[in-house]
Amino acid sequence: MENNMNIPENKPERKKVIFSGIQPTSGAFTLGNYLGAVKNWGLLQDEYNCAYCIVNQHAITVRQDPKELKSNTLSAYALMLACGIDPKKSIAFIQSHVSTHAELAWVLNCYTQFGELSRMTQFKDINAGLFTYPSLMAADILLYQTDLVPVGIDQKQHLELSRDIAVRFNGLYGNTFRIPDAYIPKTSAKIMSLADPTKKMSKSDENVKATVFLLDSKDSIIKKFKSAVTDSEMEVVYREGKDGINNLMSIYSAITKKSYEEIQREFEGKGYGDFKTAVGETVAEELRPIREEYDRLMADKAYLESCYRDGAQKARTISQRTLDKVYKKIGFLPASL
Ligand code: TYM
Repeated sequence: MENNMNIPENKPERKKVIFSGIQPTSGAFTLGNYLGAVKNWGLLQDEYNCAYCIVNQHAITVRQDPKELKSNTLSAYALMLACGIDPKKSIAFIQSHVSTHAELAWVLNCYTQFGELSRMTQFKDINAGLFTYPSLMAADILLYQTDLVPVGIDQKQHLELSRDIAVRFNGLYGNTFRIPDAYIPKTSAKIMSLADPTKKMSKSDENVKATVFLLDSKDSIIKKFKSAVTDSEMEVVYREGKDGINNLMSIYSAITKKSYEEIQREFEGKGYGDFKTAVGETVAEELRPIREEYDRLMADKAYLESCYRDGAQKARTISQRTLDKVYKKIGFLPASL
């Protein structure tokens, strides 16, 4: 068809939107957080419009010490930037600074079934905030008309609920929310504990050998890898039943980009000791610049503040558009006619 309306033929495509978040529950992120999610956040910044958020409102679903929550939030923000999130390229902000998240979460709670939330959690002994945690997460994502959500595999179920809520809302009121997809890495979607490779690596593990934190010293990282639980065989090969070795191979592969076959060849005829040391050194080397950048940023609180204020302002403007649309559709009387 002839274009006679002054519309450019090659209208540039809308840049896709990425949103993701991380809890500030303990100061440092784990190697699981990093390889499963945060490392990818940085890599996506040039190609997409990205928004990344420290989710302190999610964190209070379990009891927090107020002083610690405050300081953990600032250090989590600094660590996020140290991991390569550039506040000039991406919107980097703190959830409680942007009130649209809690506002939309309330609306979505009224469009989420009790039964759906019951399936998400064991709800004995929990507060209502933890029970409705997935609706707040849906609000985070849907406010930005997000296309892709880079997360580890443990967030998949929550993301599916976000999609269900969005589809339901769109079905009732017409197109309001973009339906988001999970963006889950191939090799590092679930990093396992170094002490028990059948369990997910987690920041709350009581075994100090289980979890590598991004701010651990080089020595401590190498020690943790040297003591990693493996099996009684000798072969560095990715195979069912070799949970410990599989985990170390996926960590090594995620950082070096080597395939499992290449790693197998590299360590052919060598013992597990050599392999564990190599993985430990590779991880320590990957994290070294992050630790250095973190220290530099934490020494400049004024800069951090200017970044998160700017991030919050940008996030408010974008998210308000979606919230206005939602309020109009559900029949909330506007504050000014
Ligand atoms: P959180 O803070 O528990 O974890 C942050 C990110 O790290 C990933 N992750 C892992 N990936 C691989 N292996 C592991 N062992 C591992 N441990 C954690 C998680 O999958 C996650 O991507 N509910 C979310 C935070 C959130 C959010 C959002 C995420 C709130 N709103 C909106 C995305 C979009 C959480 O508690 O993540």
